[in-house]
Amino acid sequence: MSAAGATGAAGAAGGIDPDRGGASASHRPLGILAALPQELGDLIEAMRAESSLRTITHGQRDYHLGTVHGAPCVVTLARVGKVAAAATVSALIHAFDVEAVVFTGVAGGVGSEVRIGDIVVANALLQHDLDASPLFPRFEVPLLGVSRFAADAALADQLAAACERFVAEAGAASAARFGTREPRVHRGMIISGDQFIASALGVEALRAALPDALAVEMEGAAIAQVCHEYGVPCAVVRTISDTADDHAPESFASFLAEIAGAYSNAILARFLAARSAG
Ligand code: ADE
Repeated sequence: MSAAGATGAAGAAGGIDPDRGGASASHRPLGILAALPQELGDLIEAMRAESSLRTITHGQRDYHLGTVHGAPCVVTLARVGKVAAAATVSALIHAFDVEAVVFTGVAGGVGSEVRIGDIVVANALLQHDLDASPLFPRFEVPLLGVSRFAADAALADQLAAACERFVAEAGAASAARFGTREPRVHRGMIISGDQFIASALGVEALRAALPDALAVEMEGAAIAQVCHEYGVPCAVVRTISDTADDHAPESFASFLAEIAGAYSNAILARFLAARSAG
């Protein structure tokens, strides 16, 4: 669909409404996004099977509108990196009037207890490559005065509860199927930057600068910043595909191809079903 089509659809979805007046929160959809198609699992197919899916192309992204696991959602791919993520979530907020945003995908493990196959739910997100020092403190977003963006506590709790249910119900089977250890769920800080970290030196430098970082990826903190600026709740869940060291490229590629989608399906199905029941 062209920009004109997207404008029409955006109008149908609520369009740009600075006051967010009119729309009742319960009817506004949840925005769900991932960077790469494998990280979304079968979510779009599940949506197509459950509802009359509508796809709107806007800013070179396909936005899929419908109901999945009982919850009204807009599902899209952000692609890779902070700018792509910020642009996409901005469209979710302004053109599709989402009530809240959930980002799902894989990340490199940084925390000493975080292993491949574990799951990390963010309670805060930070851009590890943002450094306007000495004008502003390292990691701080200039003029906003924030370095650590909090995830929405209630949304992160719901996401973590869905992860814990997945581990309790299917963790052992999933570990046997994929040859990983039984997944553990961690909660803490996820860091984001426009780099794929793939060296022992690189991940050590991140650990030294940010000892409480659990996982590293390329989008989450950008999503969190935009959501913070517009007052939209957001949460991020990441499955650990690699440990950001010299083995990261191969580990990432095989985890993405074989495991990421199954984890995403399992977590989102439980999260969305609980959300639509509540
Ligand atoms: N996403 C998954 N693994 C990653 C890594 N090692 N660095 C950045 N983003 C990632």
